[in-house]
Amino acid sequence: MFSSSFPGCFNVADLGCSSGPNTLLVISKIIDTIHKLCHQANKKLPEFQVFLNDLPRNDFNSIFQSLPEFYKRIKKEKFGPCFVAGMPGSFYERLFPSRSINFIHSSYSVHWLSKVPEKLENNKRNIYITKSSPPSVCQTFLEQFQRDFSAFLSLRSEEIVSGGPMFLTFLGRSIADPSSKDCCCLLELLTKSLIQLVNEGLVEEADVDSFNMPCYFPYEEEVKSIVREQGSFNLDTDDVNNKSFVFNKDRCGQNVANSIRAVTEPMLASHFGNAVIDPLFARFATLVAEHLAVEKTKYISLVISMTNK
Ligand SMILES: C[S@@+](CC[C@H](N)C(=O)[O-])C[C@H]1O[C@@H](n2cnc3c(N)ncnc32)[C@H](O)[C@@H]1O
Repeated sequence: MFSSSFPGCFNVADLGCSSGPNTLLVISKIIDTIHKLCHQANKKLPEFQVFLNDLPRNDFNSIFQSLPEFYKRIKKEKFGPCFVAGMPGSFYERLFPSRSINFIHSSYSVHWLSKVPEKLENNKRNIYITKSSPPSVCQTFLEQFQRDFSAFLSLRSEEIVSGGPMFLTFLGRSIADPSSKDCCCLLELLTKSLIQLVNEGLVEEADVDSFNMPCYFPYEEEVKSIVREQGSFNLDTDDVNNKSFVFNKDRCGQNVANSIRAVTEPMLASHFGNAVIDPLFARFATLVAEHLAVEKTKYISLVISMTNK
């Protein structure tokens, strides 16, 4: 994976880093792994420069406030010097100078599209692909993902050094059918919660009709074919690993509702208004709890490792 010689300073980028306990944890893991590889190869330990990227509205200040503690830990574990910087911006634009990054990592971010696909007028009473969505809606979501993921690969290939590795994890599907339960179940329950608010007169039906989520959960074959067609990276193995994680009835509806709320609240609030958020997620928590009482809900993570040509 890191076959070429280690540079004196190893530049790492984490794209869609968010702000929370996981943000710096992932960086510790990456540094730890590179140290082990250096020891195995009998190479001098590099210094690290880490760029944490997310959209400008991300709470970078809270990450920066936890840096002194992080640096102390790094020092205690005798890792080489590490310098962390924020890089606000969309990963659908250039973020870094040419050939400046040695390793790119991103988890649970690349299934977010650059925008809501256009021409989804016929996806009424849905906010994502469901069994009732016409085929043209599935195609529109897929085409937006193809454009976005292809642009993402092309931008990153300019920024990463030749032979540099990129490791991506994101939500996807293990089944070809885009309306399969692999990915859509919780969004269907969120739609049901919105429809309940329409029936109670708290939300306009037209607002539900005009809202769609800017995300796409691709089938592994779709991902592989975009990587091959875009042409800048070699897949490290021909497999895109898929790992499932399961919400079962022991994860209470409220916990699941909170995790979905953390990710979707800004876009729902900007479309439907702040006032609907509490009632919406109260109904959603109830529907999720009822659903989990009868059925385990599976989510598929796609994990891909690739190398810049
Ligand atoms: C679910 S969080 C993932 C956080 C973290 N990487 C993890 O694995 O726990 C998704 C993050 O992707 C960010 N994101 C979505 N679209 C983005 C874009 N175009 N450019 C940069 N970040 C983006 C969101 O702001 C959010 O913080």
